[in-house]
Amino acid sequence: MNWLLENKTALVCGSTAGIGKAIAETFAASGCRLILMARNEDKLKRLADSLPQKGLKHLYVVADFQIPQQPKNQLEALLSDNPGLGIDILVNNTGGPAPGPAHTSNSQAFIDAFSAHLINNHELMQICIPHMQANQWGRIINIISTSVKIPLPGLGVSNTVRGAVGNWSKTLANELGAWNITVNNVLPGATATERLEAIINKKAEKTGRSTAEISEEMRSEIPLNRFAQPQEIAAAVAFLASENANYINGINIPIDGGRTGNL
Ligand SMILES: NC(=O)c1ccc[n+]([C@@H]2O[C@H](COP(=O)([O-])OP(=O)(O)OC[C@H]3O[C@@H](n4cnc5c(N)ncnc54)[C@H](OP(=O)(O)O)[C@@H]3O)[C@@H](O)[C@H]2O)c1
Repeated sequence: MNWLLENKTALVCGSTAGIGKAIAETFAASGCRLILMARNEDKLKRLADSLPQKGLKHLYVVADFQIPQQPKNQLEALLSDNPGLGIDILVNNTGGPAPGPAHTSNSQAFIDAFSAHLINNHELMQICIPHMQANQWGRIINIISTSVKIPLPGLGVSNTVRGAVGNWSKTLANELGAWNITVNNVLPGATATERLEAIINKKAEKTGRSTAEISEEMRSEIPLNRFAQPQEIAAAVAFLASENANYINGINIPIDGGRTGNL
């Protein structure tokens, strides 16, 4: 599906695999110019070269969200090497925090996750908004988790930090609406990516049960009785990025097959 993102430039973080990669592919198919960001330069280069492009070449930034200020510094370097380049659409996304209960997690795990998720999102937003404000148009879309609505068992640090990102985002939506910049969150449910496969394998290892049994149990909690495909998350992100979503601001959209047990 073409979401008509021609003449737009999007920074998509965590875009070499899973949900982020599907977003980059969907955006590129809709005529958008991409700036990709992740840690693995080979994957970034290959993807930037292989995505369809209308006119200008796709770009990439090598950065690790675990290293404070690296995403910000690397993005600033790219923008100073490319005078006139501005970002219309920012998609904040990176690998999730490690699993485990909240009450046994050490303080540093919270600090690291807060830095990787909230602080990086904030610093990237601050680099992007002058161009959006000047154009009176912008989109900030955060890939978070359904734990923003209902905390998920065994994800103590993640639940905590995801909640902070949700409230940061809602606050920004209130502040930036004055410049016609919308800020929204997409909350994926169980999505068939490398991350989900790793989670299922880990659970199998820990419990001695088969991966098939664990997958089946997870699917049985989802009214649609299947995992999402990354492209199904990307479609919602592309909709929010498009002119079709002009009046949608400050919301959380769960894309979870109906799993989350509240409205
Ligand atoms: N899949 C699910 O079921 C699901 C459900 C709910 C929420 N989520 C959340 O959605 C987000 C994306 O999940 P996913 O399943 O698409 O993950 P994924 O398949 O593991 O992909 C993660 C992407 O982020 C990049 N990345 C990981 N750590 C990074 C770091 N420290 N710095 C920069 N880039 C990094 C990876 O590339 P490099 O390795 O090259 O850096 C990759 O491009 C995560 O926050 C996850 O918790 C996923």
